[in-house]
Amino acid sequence: SDQSAFDTDVWTLTRFVIETGRQAKGATGELTQLINAMLTAIKAISSAVRKAGLAHLQGLAGSVNVTGDDVKKLDILSNDLVINMLRASYSTCCMVSEENKELIVTPKDKRGKYVVCFDPLDGSSNIDCLASIGTIFAIYKRVTEAEPTEEDALQPGRNIVCAGYALYGSATLVALSTGAGLNFFMLDPAVGEFILTERNVRMKPKGKVYSLNEGYAKYFHPSINEYLKHKKYPEDGSSPYGARYVGSMVSDVHRTIAYGGIFMYPANEKSPKGKLRLLYECNPIAFLIEQAGGLATTGSQRVLDVQPETLHQRVPFVVGSTDDVNEYLSFVQKYP
Ligand code: AHG
Ligand code: MN
Ligand code: MN
Ligand code: MN
Repeated sequence: SDQSAFDTDVWTLTRFVIETGRQAKGATGELTQLINAMLTAIKAISSAVRKAGLAHLQGLAGSVNVTGDDVKKLDILSNDLVINMLRASYSTCCMVSEENKELIVTPKDKRGKYVVCFDPLDGSSNIDCLASIGTIFAIYKRVTEAEPTEEDALQPGRNIVCAGYALYGSATLVALSTGAGLNFFMLDPAVGEFILTERNVRMKPKGKVYSLNEGYAKYFHPSINEYLKHKKYPEDGSSPYGARYVGSMVSDVHRTIAYGGIFMYPANEKSPKGKLRLLYECNPIAFLIEQAGGLATTGSQRVLDVQPETLHQRVPFVVGSTDDVNEYLSFVQKYP
């Protein structure tokens, strides 16, 4: 029938979340409201990203954030969008953002039971050269009763209820998991809906690509440089790996999930805990990677088992296909 090109029973992300939400015991629909609010912010960010050059939204905002990053105009706009949409969803009690030093406590009359840690715009050094950028979020249930405190946000990643990322690439994609597998949704701009394109994504056990900023090689621990040497000059007759690095983690991670391989932001002499922040970059990505059958380690422990101490703490971060991450860990053993 001529409807073949038009799916009249389409699985939108909203429909997917409603279905998943109803299966959760005692579902109140609050998580559905929360995810929909995040999706609204993501659609607005996607629109702003694609017209940034025309709307004078490129360039610096003129400030530096708590982790020392130069803040871009689009960082601020994205941050305001996420905070305002989540606050208006009546489903959060507090939030943590890369762009806010302190815990963002939701006004009493707008509170719900969830905590959201998010990176409103990831890879903002790539905005002005039009390379892909993203948004990352992790959702937890609050642990305090009365006033929300940092304790609500300082939960280990294994407590995550739902996490996801948006990738503003050649198309706008949302990767989402509520703990029962990883699912991909693509934005259909004509409809303004995210459409389910891949359900229960599974990573290859081993890839052929390594991804990290080798500009820091001078400052890496020997275990990293020895691992890289093995990838470039394999002694066992296997083929050398390819190298890919965008410098936007969401882009590098999405490629690693889609094609297999390993992504690394290791510690280095200048950043002894690496650069990536645990609460709103490493934990959500580690949760999603594990949902797809991959591994996520700090080099000394599973990322999701790290007990956070401060909102903006960094951890060394190595994620990807199980065989690749385990091979890296064997170099950590060999070169302590
Ligand atoms: P953000 O733009 O949110 O501050 O994050 C940028 C991060 C991450 O996206 C990327 O993997 C990393 O910075 C790149 O850092 P280098 O430029 O040091 O490689
Ligand atoms: Mn930043
Ligand atoms: Mn980031
Ligand atoms: Mn950011």
